[in-house]
Amino acid sequence: MKDSRIGFGLLGTGLIAPFHARALNAAAEAELAAAADMNAERLAKFTAEYGCKGYATLEEMLADPEVGVVSVLTPNHLHYEAVMRALEAGKHVLVEKPPAMSLKEVDEMAAKARQKGLKVEVVLQCRTRKAIQAMRQAIEQGRFGRILHADTYMKWFRATDYYRMDAWRMSRRWGAGVTIQQLFHYIDLLQYLAGPPKRVQARMTNLAHPEIEVEDTTLAFVEFENGAQGVVQASTALWPGTDIRIEINGENGTAIMVGERIETWKFRDERPEDEEIRQIGRAAVGTGAGGAADLDFQDHQRVIEDLVAAIKEDRQPMITLESARLTLEWALAMYKSAKQEAPVELPLGAEEDVW
Ligand SMILES: NC(=O)c1ccc[n+]([C@@H]2O[C@H](COP(=O)([O-])OP(=O)(O)OC[C@H]3O[C@@H](n4cnc5c(N)ncnc54)[C@H](O)[C@@H]3O)[C@@H](O)[C@H]2O)c1
Repeated sequence: MKDSRIGFGLLGTGLIAPFHARALNAAAEAELAAAADMNAERLAKFTAEYGCKGYATLEEMLADPEVGVVSVLTPNHLHYEAVMRALEAGKHVLVEKPPAMSLKEVDEMAAKARQKGLKVEVVLQCRTRKAIQAMRQAIEQGRFGRILHADTYMKWFRATDYYRMDAWRMSRRWGAGVTIQQLFHYIDLLQYLAGPPKRVQARMTNLAHPEIEVEDTTLAFVEFENGAQGVVQASTALWPGTDIRIEINGENGTAIMVGERIETWKFRDERPEDEEIRQIGRAAVGTGAGGAADLDFQDHQRVIEDLVAAIKEDRQPMITLESARLTLEWALAMYKSAKQEAPVELPLGAEEDVW
C-alpha cells in the first residue's frame, strides 16, 4: 500500500461493492485494502477481480492494521451492528444509506463515534452532484427568495428479479421498500436543500410487484419548517424508468435537476455564471432509473475523498450521521403516516423505527 493512502475494508461484496471498489481505485488518497463477506463464492470473485485481501468475517477484517476505514455495504438492517463493532475496534466508517433502521440506532452510532474520536460518513452521494451543489449555493445566497415548493419525482423501474436477488430486498423488517431503499436519496436531497419537514402525509401501495410484501410506490405531501410545500412521488413500478427530478421553486427563481442535469435554471437576478450552470450534467451519466446497476461511481468517489480529507484534516465529513438522521426521520414519518392514514408531525421521538 502507498504510504499516505488510507486503506478501506469493504464489508459486503454484493451489488454496490464494485462501485466502491472502482471509486477507491480512482480516489486520490484512498486504497481498497480488503473485503469481507460471509458468502465465500461472492468474496472470492470480488477479491480476484479487484485484487484485495479477503476475510470471512468482519472480526478478521477489523484485526487488519491496513484497514483504516470500514465501508459497511451489507443489507440495511445489518448496518447498526457493523458500524458499532467497527467503531469499537477504532476504525473510521463509511456506511451505505440508510445508516440504520431507527433514530435511536443513529444516535448511538453518533455517540460512539464522538466517544472514540472517529469519523462516520453516510453514502448519500447524490448530495455531491454539481447540480445539487449549485442549487444549494443559490439557496444560501438567497437567490430563490422564500422557497415555495420543493418536490421530487422518482419514476423508476425494478423488475421482480431485482427483489428476488436477495431475501432482504423483499422484507420491510430488513429495511426494504421503495421509501427507505430508493426514495431515501431524494428526500435526502430535498431536506438538504429546503430543510427538514414539519408535517407529512403519505400513501404507500404495491402497484406492480404482487410477489413481494413491501411497497413499490409512495406518494406524499410535505410541509417544510420554512413554510414551503412539497410533493414526493416515488415508484419502482413504472417501466422503463425515467430520470429522477428535483424541483425547487422560490419567489425569485426556479431550478430543476433531471438525472444530474440542470434542466431549468431561471432567476430574476440573472448572473454571469448562470449560463455555465445550465450546462451542468450535459454528459449522459446513469443515475439508476432503469436498474440498480445503472450507476456511475463518481458520486461515490467524491464521498470517499471527502471522508479521507475529513480524517486527515480532523474535520466533520460532508454527510454526517446527524444530517442523515433528518432523512431517516422523514422516511419513518412517511411510514407512520401511511399506516395511520393521517398526517404526521415532526420531529418524531427517538424510539421511532422502520419496524
Ligand atoms: N448509495 C447507493 O446508491 C446504493 C445503491 C445500492 C445499494 N446501496 C446500499 O448498499 C447496501 C448493500 O446493498 P447491495 O445491493 O450491495 O446488497 P447485496 O445483498 O447485493 O450485498 C450485501 C452483501 O453483504 C453480505 N453480508 C450480509 N451480511 C453479512 C455479514 N454479517 N458479514 C459479512 N457479509 C455479509 C452478503 O453476503 C452480500 O454479499 C445497502 O445498504 C443498500 O441500501 C446503496
